[in-house]
Amino acid sequence: MTDLLLEINDLKTSFYTETGLVTAVNGVSFNVKKGEIVGVVGESGCGKSVMSQTILRLFEEGTVEFEGEINFKGNNLLTLSNKQMNKVRGDQISMIFQDPLSTLNPVHSVGRQISESIVLHQKVSKKVAEQKAIELLQLVGIPSPEKRAKEYPHNLSGGMRQRAMIAVALACRPELLIADEPTTALDVTIQAQILDLMKNLNTELDMGIIFITHDLGVVAELCSRVIVMYLGEVVEEASLEELFSRPLHPYTQGLIKSIPQLDGDRTKPLHTIEGTVPPLTRVPIGCRFATRCQFADEQCRTSSPPVSEYSPTQKVKCWNFEQILAKQEVAADVHVCT
Ligand SMILES: Nc1ncnc2c1ncn2[C@@H]1O[C@H](COP(=O)(O)OP(=O)(O)OP(=O)(O)O)[C@@H](O)[C@H]1O
Ligand SMILES: [Mg+2]
Repeated sequence: MTDLLLEINDLKTSFYTETGLVTAVNGVSFNVKKGEIVGVVGESGCGKSVMSQTILRLFEEGTVEFEGEINFKGNNLLTLSNKQMNKVRGDQISMIFQDPLSTLNPVHSVGRQISESIVLHQKVSKKVAEQKAIELLQLVGIPSPEKRAKEYPHNLSGGMRQRAMIAVALACRPELLIADEPTTALDVTIQAQILDLMKNLNTELDMGIIFITHDLGVVAELCSRVIVMYLGEVVEEASLEELFSRPLHPYTQGLIKSIPQLDGDRTKPLHTIEGTVPPLTRVPIGCRFATRCQFADEQCRTSSPPVSEYSPTQKVKCWNFEQILAKQEVAADVHVCT
């Protein structure tokens, strides 16, 4: 038996726009195993949200075109009918977002939103569902859940709302949870609590999680494997240990260098990757990162690099990663010797 939950193969998502077809996700492949937390990182505009919305096909019909495959438990989600897809959405894959108010229904109490979903998916009586809703609110760490169940989303604080949204997302007992920057808008204490909650849920419910974030610190806390996206493509995939001990892609290296260090020299400016992510209408011809890469040569500027497998768990899309790694190892040796 395979422990694979989701397998994305060569996925392309393109939008019809006034200026023509633009491709926001370009040939993305990766998978998620049962009970695994996979992090997806990259700067703003790299296609993280479009990729995750494609898994659930959350786009208006006729505005978007897909290629490739998203296999979930043996079905390609891209070829399911809308009716079948609705069932997957509410039943097996849930999504949580940065802004809970856009997901929660303002006119129903949080308890009702959870219990209605339970009735729909677990075929239990209303009374049992109401009890289960209270248990779920407790599971996500909401104090006095009986009382909170009767409240409306706008009566809850930001952290509580986020927890309530997670409870709603869990009501159908999903096998896969997609979390798109669910903690970005929260203060650090609440963020830490929500991350703990995700970890517990992952262990208790054996749920696969795709966790999208800008924050590599969060990835280090939570994920066992990481996908790095740049301008619609996966430029590196690695286990957590590999990502931090030996990042191969210059983009990943730049992201890691940009993490603020607690014990770092605060008088020095923080490292940033020079330049910005280009718009989809001006995608470079060769390697998409070449315009911002200090190691880019003629080949990088003219031809898109293949994906190389450096280890069974680490892949990189860069022409020069071996030379870059060798140079860095020499530099590190010199540093140690002096
Ligand atoms: N409906 C749409 N039509 C056209 N282009 C779109 C559409 N939705 C997203 N895009 C473009 O797709 C690209 C990827 O956007 P996406 O929202 O996935 O980025 P992201 O990595 O999630 O960024 P952030 O970290 O800011 O959330 C961007 O260039 C964006 O402008
Ligand atoms: Mg996004």
